[in-house]
Amino acid sequence: MRIAPTRFTLCLTAATAAPAVAGPNADSATLARGRYVVTTSGCNDCHTAGYPESGGKVPEAVWLTGNPVGFNGPWGTTYPANLRLTVQSLSEDAWMARARSAMRPPMPWFSLRDMSDADLRAVYRYIRSLGASGVAAPAYVPPGGKIATPYIEFVPKNLPTRAAAR
Ligand code: HEC
Repeated sequence: MRIAPTRFTLCLTAATAAPAVAGPNADSATLARGRYVVTTSGCNDCHTAGYPESGGKVPEAVWLTGNPVGFNGPWGTTYPANLRLTVQSLSEDAWMARARSAMRPPMPWFSLRDMSDADLRAVYRYIRSLGASGVAAPAYVPPGGKIATPYIEFVPKNLPTRAAAR
């Protein structure tokens, strides 16, 4: 019995050659997730000066460095913190506790409270990966205090009478 030489034709149809990931970093997915959460949760809207006005065209190098323009309302005047400095001063666990505690308006602290542990940790690691930058935001001014900076009056106007009665 003759055995014909077998010929194998490797037929790789789809071009599925996996792109070589240079220096795969176990944490790169976490950093990418943190960046994604930051950009899609609106953190830059307040914590990065000029971000909403420019449609997000602010270099990543200055993201989350805080905002010297305050928000003024019945709670006083608050300033979006420089999160690049915040994360440097807090351990990851301290960040988790801080991020899950109540804050003054208009900080949507309840959004952080309701984030998964994994996302909140990814946000911390991403912001830390950007490094420290900028200066601390101005200090909180209680109601009636003297405001020395530009600020946004964050008070609803022209409300129907019933809703205005608080
Ligand atoms: C509508 C504006 C606004 C948005 C959006 C916003 N923040 Fe804030 N954030 C503030 C203000 C104002 C403060 C200061 C609150 C205070 O003085 O109590 C603050 C404070 C914080 C603090 C406390 C910082 C510290 O040093 O103690 C953290 C943490 C924080 N924000 C994280 C975030 C993250 C993460 C996002 C996105 C998911 C976000 N913020 C979105 C306005 C905002």
